[in-house]
Amino acid sequence: MTEQTTSPAVQAPLPGTVQLRDVTEADLPIFFEQQLDTTANYMAAFTAKDPTDREAFMAHWARVLGDMGILIKTILFEGQVAGYVSTHGWFGELEVTYWLGKDYWGRGLATQALASFLQVQKSRPLAGRAAKDNVASIRVLQKCGFVLTGEDRGFANARDEEIEEVILTLA
Ligand SMILES: CC(C)(COP(=O)(O)OP(=O)(O)OC[C@H]1O[C@@H](n2cnc3c(N)ncnc32)[C@H](O)[C@@H]1OP(=O)(O)O)[C@@H](O)C(=O)NCCC(=O)NCCS
Repeated sequence: MTEQTTSPAVQAPLPGTVQLRDVTEADLPIFFEQQLDTTANYMAAFTAKDPTDREAFMAHWARVLGDMGILIKTILFEGQVAGYVSTHGWFGELEVTYWLGKDYWGRGLATQALASFLQVQKSRPLAGRAAKDNVASIRVLQKCGFVLTGEDRGFANARDEEIEEVILTLA
C-alpha cells in the first residue's frame, strides 16, 4: 500500500472557524495585496519601508520561508486565505506576529487563529509587540493570555517617526 502525502493537511472546518495550514507559494500574492492596505499599515506601524515594492516583498518572504527558526501558518477562513500568523526570533526573543486581510477583520478571526497557533507553537515565553495605539492587536494578544510586560520605542516605517510600542508576554 502506498503512503499518501497530504501536506498541507486540511480537515473540514466548523462554520465560522479558521484553519491553519502551511504557507504555499500561491499565498504570497494574496499576502502582498493584504499588506498594501494603508489602515493596516498604520495599525501595524512597524512595517516594510515600501509595501508596494513587490520585489522587496518577495525577497522578504523568501527569507521567511527559508528560515527554519520561523514557524508560520496561513490562516484560512471559509476556504479563503485570510492572512498569516507566525513566530520569529529575529530580534532575540521568540515573537509572535500576524496579519489579516481587511475583509476578515472584526469577526474574532485573529483571536481564533492565534489561539490555534499557540497549540502548535508551544515554546514559552513568547513575546508580542504592538504599537501602543494598536488596540485590536493588543486585545488579540490579551485574549490569548499574553500580559503586558514592557514598553519600548522604535522607528515605525508606516508612520515615518519613532513611536511607542508595548510588549506583551505569554509565560
Ligand atoms: C490586528 C488584527 C490582527 C485584528 O484582527 P481581528 O480579526 O479584527 O481581531 P479580532 O476580531 O480577533 O478582535 C480582537 C479584539 O480586538 C477588538 N478590535 C478589533 N478591531 C478593533 C479596532 N479597530 N479597534 C479597537 N478594537 C478592535 C475586538 O473587538 C476584539 O476585542 P473584544 O473581544 O474585547 O471585543 C487585524 O486588524 C490586522 O491584521 N491588522 C493589520 C496588521 C496588524 O496590526 N497586525 C498586528 C501587528 S502587531
